[in-house]
Amino acid sequence: MVNKEAAQVRLNPMNRRNGNEMNIPEFVSPKAAQIAQAFHRTFPDYHPTPLVGLPKLAAKLGIRQLLVKDESHRFGLNAFKVLGASYAMACYLCDRLKLPIEEADFAYLRSEEVKRQLGELTFVTATDGNHGRAVAWAAAQLGQRAVVYLPKGSASQRVEAIRQTGAHAHVINGSYDEAVRLSDQMARERGWQVIQDTAWEGYTDIPAWIMQGYTTMAAEAIQQIAEQFPEEAPTHLFLQAGVGSMAAAVLGHGVARNPSKYPFTIIVEPHAADCFYRSAAGDGRALPAMGDLRTIMAGLACGEPSPLAWEILRDYADAFASCPDSVAADGMRSLGLPVGDDQPIVSGESGAVGVGLLAALMQQEEWEDFRKTAKLDETSVVLCFSTEGDTDRESYERIVRHDAKIKGKA
Ligand SMILES: Cc1ncc(COP(=O)(O)O)c(C=O)c1O
Repeated sequence: MVNKEAAQVRLNPMNRRNGNEMNIPEFVSPKAAQIAQAFHRTFPDYHPTPLVGLPKLAAKLGIRQLLVKDESHRFGLNAFKVLGASYAMACYLCDRLKLPIEEADFAYLRSEEVKRQLGELTFVTATDGNHGRAVAWAAAQLGQRAVVYLPKGSASQRVEAIRQTGAHAHVINGSYDEAVRLSDQMARERGWQVIQDTAWEGYTDIPAWIMQGYTTMAAEAIQQIAEQFPEEAPTHLFLQAGVGSMAAAVLGHGVARNPSKYPFTIIVEPHAADCFYRSAAGDGRALPAMGDLRTIMAGLACGEPSPLAWEILRDYADAFASCPDSVAADGMRSLGLPVGDDQPIVSGESGAVGVGLLAALMQQEEWEDFRKTAKLDETSVVLCFSTEGDTDRESYERIVRHDAKIKGKA
C-alpha cells in the first residue's frame, strides 16, 4: 500500500551515470545554451534571476549549503517559463524567415519588417497557467496574437494574468492533457501555431526549442555558482517535473557540460501526477499517471511525460520522488519564513517542492538508508530551482501565513 501522506523515492535502475557513451541531445549542449542565452540577453528587461545561499536552513537540515535559484524575478512574470516560450517563438519566426537565430534579436523579430513578411500570426497553447502566461507575454512582446486553453479548476489569478497581456484565455471542462489536445486541434482547424512545452510524435521542434530556452536558467546558475559560491559546487540537484522539459533541460545541460561529474539528481513530482516516478519502475517506456491529477502543485499536474524529457531523465536522473501536497507546503514555508538571517524567498507550490522534499529526507529517520545511498550529509551542497513565486496569491497566503501561524512558525 502506498502511504499517501509520505514522500516515496525510488532509485533509477536505468541510470547510465558512468556509462561509456553519452546520449545527450544537441539542444541542451553548452553551444545551444550559449545561443539561447545570447538571444534572451537582447530582451530589454533581461537580467539573471538571483541565486540565493541559505546557510542557516542548510545547517538546520544538516547539509553544507543550500543554493536556490529564485525564478520569481524572471521578467516580472513570477516564473521561469517565459525562457522557453520566448525562445521557441523566436526560433519559429526565424525558421519562417530563413534566418539563423544567432543573427536575430528581439528588436528585429518584433519589427514591422518581420510583420510585413510573415503577417499576423496566432500562437496557441495549453497550460496550467505559467506556460500560458509565458506564451501570452512573449506573443505580445513580439507583436503577435495568443490563444490559451487552461484546465478545469485553474486559479483565477492565473487566468487574469494571461488576459492582461491581451491574449484570449479559455478555461475548459477537462484536464491539462485534454487542453493540450484541444489546442492542437484548433491549430489544425484555424492555421494557428502550437507552442507546447511537451513533445509528441511529429511535434518535437518547438518543445526542443523550449528546452533549449530553459538552459538559460541552468547556464546562469552555473555562472553564478562560479562567481558567488566558488567553493560550493553542487553535489545534489532537486528538480521538479510536470512534463519534465525543465528538469531534463537543466540536468541534460549539466551532464553535457561535465559528463564525468554532475550532481546526484532527484526528480520530484506530486503523488497525483507522478508519471516519471511510475515510469522509472517500468520497462524503459514512459508511463502516464492515472486519475484526476488534483494537486496544489498546478505547474506539475501533468500526467504524461514529454518523450524528449523522458529520454534524458531515464538515462541520467539518479532517483525519482513522488510527494504529497504537504511536502510542497512545507517547502513554501521553509523558503518564505526563513531560519535566522537567511533571505526569504517567495516560492509557490510548484517551486518549493524540492526544498520540501530535501527537508523531509534530511529530518525524518525513515530516510537514513536513502541518505547514505545518496550521500546526502553534512558535506552536501544542494541546488534547487524555485521555479515560481506566488502565482496563486490566495493559496500562498493560506499556506505560508495562515498555516504557519497554526503550526507556530510565524
Ligand atoms: C512553476 C513551475 N515549475 C515547474 C514546472 C515543470 O516544468 P515541466 O512541465 O517542463 O516539467 C512548471 C510547469 O508548468 C511550472 O509552472
